[in-house]
Amino acid sequence: MRLFSRALNRVILVVKNMKEKKLRSSEWFGRTGKDGFIYRSWMKNQGIPAHEFKGKPVIGICNTWSELTPCNAHFRELAESVKHGIYEAGGFPVEFPVMSLGETLIKPTAMLYRNLVSMDVEESIRANPLDGVVLLCGCDKTTPSLIMGACSVNIPTIVVSGGAMLTGKYQGHDIGTTDVWRFSEAQRAGRMSEEEMNVAEACMSRSRGHCAVMGTASTMAVMTEALGLSLPENAAIPAADSRRKVLAHMSGMRIVDMVKEDLKLSDILTPQAFENAILTNAAIGGSTNFIIHLLAIAGRIGVNLTIDDFDTTSKGIPLLANLQPSGKYFMEDLYYAGGIPAVMKELDSFLNKETVAVSGQAISQNYQNSQCYNREVIATVAEPFNLAAGITVVKGNLCENGAVLKPSAASTALMQHTGKAVVFENIEDYKARIDDPLLDVDENSVLVLKNVGPKGYPGMPEVGNMSIPKKLLAKGVTDMVRISDGRMSGTGFGTVVLHVSPEAAAGGTIAIVQNGDRIKLDVFNKELMIELSDEEIAERKKHLQQSHHLADRGYTFLYQQNVEQAHLGADFGFLKGGSGSEVLRDSH
Ligand code: FES
Repeated sequence: MRLFSRALNRVILVVKNMKEKKLRSSEWFGRTGKDGFIYRSWMKNQGIPAHEFKGKPVIGICNTWSELTPCNAHFRELAESVKHGIYEAGGFPVEFPVMSLGETLIKPTAMLYRNLVSMDVEESIRANPLDGVVLLCGCDKTTPSLIMGACSVNIPTIVVSGGAMLTGKYQGHDIGTTDVWRFSEAQRAGRMSEEEMNVAEACMSRSRGHCAVMGTASTMAVMTEALGLSLPENAAIPAADSRRKVLAHMSGMRIVDMVKEDLKLSDILTPQAFENAILTNAAIGGSTNFIIHLLAIAGRIGVNLTIDDFDTTSKGIPLLANLQPSGKYFMEDLYYAGGIPAVMKELDSFLNKETVAVSGQAISQNYQNSQCYNREVIATVAEPFNLAAGITVVKGNLCENGAVLKPSAASTALMQHTGKAVVFENIEDYKARIDDPLLDVDENSVLVLKNVGPKGYPGMPEVGNMSIPKKLLAKGVTDMVRISDGRMSGTGFGTVVLHVSPEAAAGGTIAIVQNGDRIKLDVFNKELMIELSDEEIAERKKHLQQSHHLADRGYTFLYQQNVEQAHLGADFGFLKGGSGSEVLRDSH
């Protein structure tokens, strides 16, 4: 009954909006005199008659296509499908580029530029005659950066993800990005040759799309679907599957109606929608990067989300998806098993069912008719793959503002562990010494890497899952406790404590850790402690010296001056919230 009255209210609201709402683009194309001449005339140089764009919903297609972002290299084709849908629904599509972030090629790390792209997106949307926008996202940072930027404008917006690659096939085995870490360890231990590595490279990336495991890109696509920002099934349709294009076409059609209904991001991104995303992320064993990006998105749309909410909201949610790196299967398998709708159906009793999705309907409509076709891939809540799911937030005197760990990717035996610290002052120090035969380390040691946080590196790279020292690999050691103020690839695994906040470069306690200090990790009690007195910590902090490089110009200067700590989402303080869609001054 509540659902019905909600739907009825929505219909009344839509009719009212359609009567009252003037198209934003009419401020450009609907003008008379010199201004209207200029706005329309230059559009006509593309061979477009005025009736195509005047008086119709103008829909921007924000495209992160780039040959330097291989995961998104098929986006021109995807954009064509979106355009067909927009035309079919009576809108006018305009495709525009923004900076694209290819995880594999960009140096020093794509995360450094997430906030920059979000600014590019925000200003591109606001500055142009757009009534609605379709975000084409794929590789890790392209999703959060586009959503963050769009939130700060808050016009009708829909996300179309690019889809994952087909499952890799190597020597009769299924492989994906998680195997890169395994191959690398095998090569370092002498079990895999350079030639075999070269063959595996081609076998893994055998189709268009992003990483085929539940890494950060897939996690972001799931987040999008669980928030209600995409049509159902968006997260898991493989990039190479023709149904990906159908989804893009349907999304193009839908955004035109969203403009007519004036269904904005702020109508969809409620606190309850964020809870749904956290619950779903726990169930699928999503990347630790989920936390940092969701916090940043919440900050833009004005939802008060904290790092502690991730723990409390996902309490009791078990692991329902058997996907690498926490499990066995790949994104392609997830789609054939029923996709995210089937996962959300399992979570139905936990979810906020009435949050509105881009469809204009309750999110429960996205999954209520779905089915699971393979219980090897998607489990029931009654019989999950692992009781430990979600992302655990630990606190203590080594991370006063928190740090994160993914239990489903960690070793049970190391969840409660105390060991002596082996400290690397920065990434160069780590690279120089990790395989040194003289390194004073054993399997009980705790590896600590400093100065890879937001300010320190800068940009918080994915280096937190440090390699196991070669001499321990040779002894058969496969996991150790590793702690850093950096991040880890969503495809990585191990007992890895990440995002330590405050970071070393901001004067956090991690900066004063010395070789031989005893560190205690207790995941069950959510604690990370260094066994030093408060007095000793304070005394060591007095003698701290700045050990990270500070940029004196350009974007990196802006970044280091303004980036917030990981537990706040590592956004720029001055980008929190939004400036809306109004253009305040007009030069014509
Ligand atoms: Fe693009 Fe993994 S490198 S998603």
